[in-house]
Amino acid sequence: MILAIEGSPRKGGNSHTLLAAFLDGVAEAGAAYRAVHLRDYRFEPCAGCEQCRRDKICTRFQDGMTLLYPLIQEARGLILVTPVHNYNVTAWVKAFIDRLYCFYDFADTRPRGWSSRLAGAGRKAVIAAIAEQEDPENLGVALPAMRLPLTALGYEIAAELPVLGLFDRGVIAKHRHLLDQARDLGRDLAQGLL
Ligand SMILES: Cc1cc2nc3c(=O)[nH]c(=O)nc-3n(C[C@H](O)[C@H](O)[C@H](O)COP(=O)(O)O)c2cc1C
Repeated sequence: MILAIEGSPRKGGNSHTLLAAFLDGVAEAGAAYRAVHLRDYRFEPCAGCEQCRRDKICTRFQDGMTLLYPLIQEARGLILVTPVHNYNVTAWVKAFIDRLYCFYDFADTRPRGWSSRLAGAGRKAVIAAIAEQEDPENLGVALPAMRLPLTALGYEIAAELPVLGLFDRGVIAKHRHLLDQARDLGRDLAQGLL
């Protein structure tokens, strides 16, 4: 199963449309998937309480992430799409990534050694970031802000798609080559997980 997540506040926006294109490719490859729009879920940012260290899942909050955890555990593929907000991922995507902290096991040393319970299962991820400005500098840290934590959690980053120069809601639908690129990456991800 491939879990496809986007973190835009805009329903029908560019991230939403790009996610659908990725999923066209996943469906073409015959893989099962779930689409998640983070704005449809209510969840807290990580409180840093460290209860998950004992409980092995977040027990501080019963919220939208409680619904997403089983999907994350089940899925071997992850597609994560964010619009660029202030040179970074959106607050939804940042909070989502921080709430994956419960998948780490930590040792008692200082600094604590760590490993991820999502690692070692051949998980792969595709990440994409969409910015209004044309210059790649305006992507800021959006791609590394997804790549670094997902790699630490045990995902191989199969592909990264930076998208520049799009502002209006859903205007990406007019850029067939981008949708085709996403469809191809979605298909490749699904085939790479077979
Ligand atoms: C709060 C906010 C911050 C933004 N910051 C940036 C930015 O730093 N660089 C940029 O190129 N575009 C920025 N944008 C523009 C969005 O990335 C752009 O409109 C994108 O296409 C939105 O994608 P969506 O339709 O999926 O929400 C920002 C938009 C908002 C609302």
